[in-house]
Parts: sequence; C-alpha cells; structure tokens
Amino acid sequence: MMIANRFIPPATTSPFRDDVLDGLTRKSKTLPSRWLYDERGSELFEAITRLPEYYPTRIETDILRDSAADIGGLIERGAALVEYGAGASNKTRIILDALKSPRYYVPIDISGEFLLTAARRIEAAYPALHVAPRVADFLGTLALPQLIQGAPRLGFFPGSTIGNLTDLEIHSFLARCKASLGTGARFLLGYDLRKSPDILIPAYDDAQGVTAAFNLNILARINRELGADFDLSQFKHVAVWNEAQSRVEMHLESLTQQIVTLGAVQIRFVPGETIHTENSRKFCQDTMRRMCSAAGWSTLREYKDADNQFAVVMLKSDNLPS
Ligand code: AVI
Repeated sequence: MMIANRFIPPATTSPFRDDVLDGLTRKSKTLPSRWLYDERGSELFEAITRLPEYYPTRIETDILRDSAADIGGLIERGAALVEYGAGASNKTRIILDALKSPRYYVPIDISGEFLLTAARRIEAAYPALHVAPRVADFLGTLALPQLIQGAPRLGFFPGSTIGNLTDLEIHSFLARCKASLGTGARFLLGYDLRKSPDILIPAYDDAQGVTAAFNLNILARINRELGADFDLSQFKHVAVWNEAQSRVEMHLESLTQQIVTLGAVQIRFVPGETIHTENSRKFCQDTMRRMCSAAGWSTLREYKDADNQFAVVMLKSDNLPS
C-alpha cells in the first residue's frame, strides 16, 4: 500500500511576520525599526555612517578619541568591556586602547555572523584579551559570562542607539545592565543632542539617497521573506522632525492609492499615507541624566564636542537597587 506524502504547511508565524502584520493592519501603519537591519540593511547603515551629512558617528568617534585618556583613568586595571549592539568598530578599539591592560571583551549582538567576524578581528588585534562574544538581543535578558565576575566592569553603548528606544525600553535596558554588570560597574553611553532641523533632516535624508535605500529596504525584505508584493517605486522615504517628541521620524509614504498583498491579507494605502519605520530621539542633557538616574546610574563625567552636537557620558552604578 502506498502512503500518500502528507503536505506539511510551512510555519506561518515568525516574530517578523507577526510584527509586520500587526504594524501594517493598524490605523496608523508602523514597522519596528529593528527589522531594518537584515544583511542589506546593515550594509546600508554602515554606508550611512560614512555620509558627509550623517554627523553622529564622526563626532562621537572624535569625542571618544579626545576623552580616551580621561576615560582610561576612570577604570581600574584588568577590566572587562561589555559592548551592547554591533561592536568591534573604531570606537571599540579607542576604548580598548584607553583601558589599562583590559582582560575581557564581551560584545553582544543579535546578528551572530557579524558578531563572530568582528570578535575574531578584535581577538587577532589584542592577543592578551579574552574575547567572549554573546549572540543575544541586548534588549532581552542578559546573563554575562561568569569569568568576568572578579574584574572591574565597563558597559559600552555607543552610536546613539539609545535614541531608537522608547522611554520604557531605555529604563528597562539601563536597569538590566546595572543588575548584570553589578556593584561598582561603570557605563559609557553615547547619545545625540537636540539641534536644528537644518542639520537633522539632511542627516536622515541624504543627497545620495542612501538613507532612502535603507528605509525602502524594509519593504524589499517583507517581499523577499514574507512573499508580499510591495512595489518599491510607489513609496517614498520621508524624514520629519517631530518637535513635541524631540525626534527625527522616518516614514515610507505611499505615492498612490494601492493595495499590497501579504498572504491572505490585503493592505490598503491612500496617497500620502505613511508607514512609520523609525524614531531617532535627540535628548537634552538634563533629560538623559534623569533617565539614567531613574535606572540607578549616576553621571560621573559628560563629554561633548565644541558645537554641542553629541554627548558621551560615563555613568557609575549607584549602590541602591534600582
Ligand atoms: C542606529 N541608529 C542610532 C541610527 C540613528 O541615527 O538613529 C539609525 C539611522 N537611521 C537612519 N539613519 C541612521
């Protein structure tokens, strides 16, 4: 007797699919910004960091270089550097070079392949350093490797990625870092300062169209991974300054009346309707000080560039539980 092959349907749910369906069926359409970073999105973001209009990477790197000696002086010998998000860039090396005989480097990133390649490069450049990469979402629960327990610990969260988070996410991230890094820990945090939209808008809508390609890539990803039929030529990248929320918003604006199909779901767009894809918050120093303090970190040092464009703060874990 022949047994018929049973058709096993492909898994229909995934965190990406769930977020896309949830976001695109709301009254105000939205997509979580973390889905911007597939392989192509990460490449495009790297290209953004080199654009003349995108000042944060350049200015933060200069601040770290100028403050390296002071930063090094605040951390005891033989420390563990724990970096949240994609690491192993120039900035990591500036900090490793500033520390006195650092013993451990723990880079944490959701993208395993990227993380391991970067970690191997650091390992090769710093033979005395024990590199212990962790593939994890740094916004989730994080257990740090046991081996760093006895070492002075420095958390590192550069790049103003904190500006892509909500108040609640910032609070729980900083409080969890404090709990896992432990008593006596220090934390070096880079964030973007409020400034004129004349500087902000070109930084998020550059002349070469790299940021537009980065934003539109999320639609290409939905087509590729979820089988949707977005016509990318019918959407336009828009960057707007939201004064009340103190943030640059990225949107994808529908140029026409259209229907996009995603499996059994039809998503209708009217001309001018947008999908909100990212917030990039710009902070006052007071606001950031307050947010850090609420999560159990007090401010030890504040470093800025001469034009007050970007800030890096060295935080110290309070003794009180947050
Ligand atoms: C990753 N993050 C800090 C960037 C920012 O500036 O908010 C993401 C970005 N989006 C467009 N350009 C850069």
